[in-house]
Amino acid sequence: MSTPLKVAVTGAAGQIGYSLLFRLASGALGDRPIELRLLEITPALKALEGVVMELDDCAFPNLTAVEIGDDAEKIFDGVNLALLVGARPRGPGMERGDLLSANGAIFTAQGKALNAAAADDVRIGVTGNPANTNALIAMTNAPDIPDERFSALTRLDHNRAISQLAAKTGASVNDIKKMTIWGNHSATQYPDVFHAEIGGKNAAEVVGDQAWIENDFIPTVAKRGAAIIDARGASSAASAASATCDAARDWLNGSAEGDWVSMAVRSDGSYGVPEGLISSFPVTTKDGNWEIVQGLEIDEFSRARIDASTAELAEERTAVTELGLI
Ligand code: NAI
Repeated sequence: MSTPLKVAVTGAAGQIGYSLLFRLASGALGDRPIELRLLEITPALKALEGVVMELDDCAFPNLTAVEIGDDAEKIFDGVNLALLVGARPRGPGMERGDLLSANGAIFTAQGKALNAAAADDVRIGVTGNPANTNALIAMTNAPDIPDERFSALTRLDHNRAISQLAAKTGASVNDIKKMTIWGNHSATQYPDVFHAEIGGKNAAEVVGDQAWIENDFIPTVAKRGAAIIDARGASSAASAASATCDAARDWLNGSAEGDWVSMAVRSDGSYGVPEGLISSFPVTTKDGNWEIVQGLEIDEFSRARIDASTAELAEERTAVTELGLI
């Protein structure tokens, strides 16, 4: 048996964790042995023990070990992949600054613990919100880990955009390629169909309905999270877990030939996105590395939307800088 991939999941007793752990253990990252290392806050450890009992009861052939705990440095010891899902949700009366500072404390500590304990080849995916800025905080607090090993999840938005486009055009999701989410994982995100393809043809041309793109598609994708809370009475969890798996699998194993994926990664200034922000881009991945797709033409419509979302990211960066988190 090859050496197990050591995968840390934080917030493992939460909603997303309840779906994610079973997907990881049953082969979402490929047919390979895997060890799960699960971090929770102390009061949630008992619930997490119950989840581990269920993992045991699945008798997953590739799940070699499960470790749980509330000490980040112990849980992150030697991990090759860290999926940072646990975060502090916005509570009643909580201002944005309170939220940023509560999460800042979590991601500062976890960045430091990863820096101290993770394997040399670690890749870190942040799902917990505000994901982009949480990733920026963790990255800044892990000076020995290369910046390109951090990303924030916009794959759920990417998958939502593909699904909406498939429903509109009657195409199969398999025929839709080169979807892009630009910017922040928030309502300002910009799902871009102008570079996407359906069956090899330009998606915007196939749709042929600018009003739908502007007034229906973009807001539906950007506000899908709120629509799910409205319908389900709880935030998206299974789809977020699925997207977390998709993103990790493609990062480690490579994106498909002739296609790209959306990932929020450290900007090198490409497409005018201020350097250093963790912003979503079209990327290709290979052997655990990503590259921003270059050379796409950005028209005025797209420019304005990318700028609005990255301006929000810049504001978040200023706020966490003022809070002394980075
Ligand atoms: P949840 O509230 O059900 O679970 C979060 C878990 O994190 C809880 O069990 C909590 O005890 C744990 N936790 C809190 N602080 C922790 C810490 N310092 N260390 C370890 N664990 C800690 O939330 P759910 O639904 O699982 O969502 C998790 C996060 O994912 C939220 O921030 C949510 O907004 C975000 N999310 C992100 C999406 C994306 O596309 N990027 C999509 C959906 C959710």
